[in-house]
Amino acid sequence: MGLAGVYLSVHTPRYCTYDAAFAGKLAHPNFQAVRDGMVAQGRHVAALTPDVIVINSCHLVATFPTVVDGTPRHEGVLTAQEAPELIHGVAYDFPGDFELAAAMIEGGRAAGLPCTLANDVHYPLDYGTVMPLVCYLDRAQRIAAVPVSVCLSADLGESFAWGRHIARAAAALGRRAAFVASGSVSHKLVRGPERWPGAAEQELDHRLARLLADGDYDKAWAWLPEYAEAAEPEMGGRHLAMMLGALIETGRRFEATVHAYGPSSGSGNYVISMAAA
Ligand SMILES: [Fe+2]
Repeated sequence: MGLAGVYLSVHTPRYCTYDAAFAGKLAHPNFQAVRDGMVAQGRHVAALTPDVIVINSCHLVATFPTVVDGTPRHEGVLTAQEAPELIHGVAYDFPGDFELAAAMIEGGRAAGLPCTLANDVHYPLDYGTVMPLVCYLDRAQRIAAVPVSVCLSADLGESFAWGRHIARAAAALGRRAAFVASGSVSHKLVRGPERWPGAAEQELDHRLARLLADGDYDKAWAWLPEYAEAAEPEMGGRHLAMMLGALIETGRRFEATVHAYGPSSGSGNYVISMAAA
C-alpha cells in the first residue's frame, strides 16, 4: 500500500480529446505520438487499479499556500479559459478523497508548509487536472482524485516536500495511490502549436527521462535546479520536484514505461508511467 504508481502526464489542449485523431482535431502529425502515449498511459492506470489519484497540475495555481482539494465529489463542466475552442463543455463528475487530502494537509502543516484544504463543490478545476483524468487516465471517472495546486511562493524544495507528504499520507492511510504530475518538461513557448523545443532543450528533456527510466531519482533531484534553469520547465519544474519527492519518499525503484515525447508550441512533453516494482 502507499504509492503504487507515478505518472508524468500531458495536458496541452491539442491533446484534449481521446478521439481527437478521429475528429481531425490533431491537425498535425507531430501530435500523434503523445496522443497515443496518453491512451497507453490510460491503460497503465487501468492495470494499476489505484484507489486514488493525487494530481498536481501546472494550471492549478495558488500564490501563497499549496491548496489540496479534498472535496468529496468533484463535479462540474469545464471550458478552458485559454483554449475555449478546444476544451469546452467537458463534464466531469468523479469522487474525491477527503480523508487523504486532510492527512496531506496535516503532514504539510506539521512541517510548517503554508497550505489550505479545500472542501467545496464550487472549487473550480483547471484543464491540466480535468483533461488528463477525464480524457485519458480514467475515462469512466470512477477513481477518486485529489487535486493539489502548484504554489508560486514555493521553491523546488517545498514542492519536493509536498511529494514526500503525499507518499507518506497515502502509506499511512493504506491507500493504493497514484501520483500524476500534469505538465510539460521544457517549456519555452512560442506560437505555432506543432513546433518542437530546440535541440538543446530536447536533449535536456531526454536526460531527465533517462534518469527516471533508470530509477536514478536522487540524481534527477540533485540535477533538477540546473535542468530547471536551462530548460525552463512548466511552472519552474515544481510538478517535477513534487513527483521526485513522491518517488524518493517511497524508497523504492519503479518500473518505468516511456510512452512518448512530443511537442506543443515549443514545449517538450513526456508521457511516462512508473509502477512500483
Ligand atoms: Fe500547461
